[in-house]
Amino acid sequence: MSEKISRREFLQRGTAAAIGLTVVPNTILGKSHAHIAPSDKLNIAGVGVGGMGNANLRNMERTDNIVALCDVDWDYAKDAFGRHPQAKKYRDFRKMYDEMGKSIDAVLVATPDHTHAIVAANAIAMGKHVYVQKPLTHTVYESRLLTNLAKKYQVATQMGNQGASSEDSDLVCEWIWNGEIGEVTRVDCATDRPLWPQGLNTPTERMPIPWGLGGPEGWDLFLGPAKYRPYNRAYHPWDWRGWWDYGTGALGDMACHIMQVAFKSLNLLYPISAEGCSTPLFPDCAPNAQHVKITYPARKKFHKVNMPQVEIHWYDGGLLPEFPKGWEAGKSLMREGGGVTIFHGTKDTLVCGCYGQKPFLVSGRVPKAPQVERRVGTSHEQDWIRACKESPENRVPTKSDFAFSGPFNEMVVMGVLAVRLQGLNRPLQWDGLNMRFTNIGENEELNLKQTEMKVIDGDPKMTTIDHKVNAMAYAQELIKHTYREGWTLPDMPTF
Ligand SMILES: NC(=O)c1ccc[n+]([C@@H]2O[C@H](COP(=O)([O-])OP(=O)(O)OC[C@H]3O[C@@H](n4cnc5c(N)ncnc54)[C@H](O)[C@@H]3O)[C@@H](O)[C@H]2O)c1
Repeated sequence: MSEKISRREFLQRGTAAAIGLTVVPNTILGKSHAHIAPSDKLNIAGVGVGGMGNANLRNMERTDNIVALCDVDWDYAKDAFGRHPQAKKYRDFRKMYDEMGKSIDAVLVATPDHTHAIVAANAIAMGKHVYVQKPLTHTVYESRLLTNLAKKYQVATQMGNQGASSEDSDLVCEWIWNGEIGEVTRVDCATDRPLWPQGLNTPTERMPIPWGLGGPEGWDLFLGPAKYRPYNRAYHPWDWRGWWDYGTGALGDMACHIMQVAFKSLNLLYPISAEGCSTPLFPDCAPNAQHVKITYPARKKFHKVNMPQVEIHWYDGGLLPEFPKGWEAGKSLMREGGGVTIFHGTKDTLVCGCYGQKPFLVSGRVPKAPQVERRVGTSHEQDWIRACKESPENRVPTKSDFAFSGPFNEMVVMGVLAVRLQGLNRPLQWDGLNMRFTNIGENEELNLKQTEMKVIDGDPKMTTIDHKVNAMAYAQELIKHTYREGWTLPDMPTF
């Protein structure tokens, strides 16, 4: 972005408009992207590189240039920073876009879940390709926005659910499409997570901000669009995933890996209803265990198989689905990677691990289905780099490009909605196109019944406190967050 445009202006006017004055990306002019030959190197910027982002960088840096790195915690990110002395370092992605927008081709986003959308959406609106960690976004609205922005700006995209690029995931789809298990009316998915603390009261202690964050400004940048709260070690680093303001609990953490094969093989789009239940809900922290049921309407026949209405079930925190018929006694349901997906078909049952790993039929039969899916052969990251270098007209989409992973992520965050709205005590009817529930009355109250736990003389005491809110407004806020002042998303494109 030109130094002539201030960060404030950049945010107020929207990135696309601002950048249009200076760089004039080809997409904004309705032309194809300036082409990057496969032999040329991409200039990649990484945002959030202290954890998984660092692993993603390793799979990108061996072939392409890492030109800029942005992380709010320069201590936590020191490994990535140290490996890339040539990359310019930032704490604030907005400043990085301001200063280096012209020289960046693509952005890797691996911040906590609540900042994926704002970092990625503003990059896309500048015509940058994006690789965004899973879950793609924190809300349904943000998923829809990224899907539509990617379509408008014709950039190469990939959500970081790496199992989508595996041959095992391809096999699951091919077996189902070839009719190997018949029609699927129910899928059970489970994870052994959370492995981090959940089901907690909100910390009241104000802890010193770690030096790596560089002071209160660094913590404020971590919070980004979320409301202000003082720093506590319970949030950063890594444990943020259990707190609703930043993460999405065990479901958001693992469903993108475990449900991917279901969403793809069954050609799902928008659900018609969702319901959830859990161990006690805390005001700010995800519960220890959850069960969610999401229902999809019948879809068109695909390849050889009919696609009737289907229920997708999610279990975490130690809850498990029933053993399928014919399951071998003594064999654990939990498969490779601490997850399982079970497709109940009219002819057989297909089971695979997390990331679609090692699929098999419960009958023991080994299917032989024609190959119809492209095999990736490299890595999830390298496949995205390949797509970045192809022109939009001829681009072979990545396995988790936003046209797929955007609607898929809506399913994942719908699970969060179902759990957080469980106090309405009904299956929530969903109008996917308009992103709204249709069976919540305008003046209806939702009692969030927040539970507080105190240990008094070694005895745990649970108190339930009534907390009544307008149900419709509460649901709407979960579907589309109100961002803190100074943090804005580009407008939703219309087609
Ligand atoms: N695909 C996978 O297998 C996989 C595995 C782990 C994590 N993840 C995903 O990766 C993302 C990051 O998770 P993690 O485990 O690496 O967490 P983490 O806390 O270990 O790392 C997050 C990094 O982002 C930085 N950060 C936080 N807010 C920032 C901001 N506003 N701007 C710039 N940097 C910021 C933090 O300082 C830290 O370095 C999450 O969305 C998570 O779900 C994916």
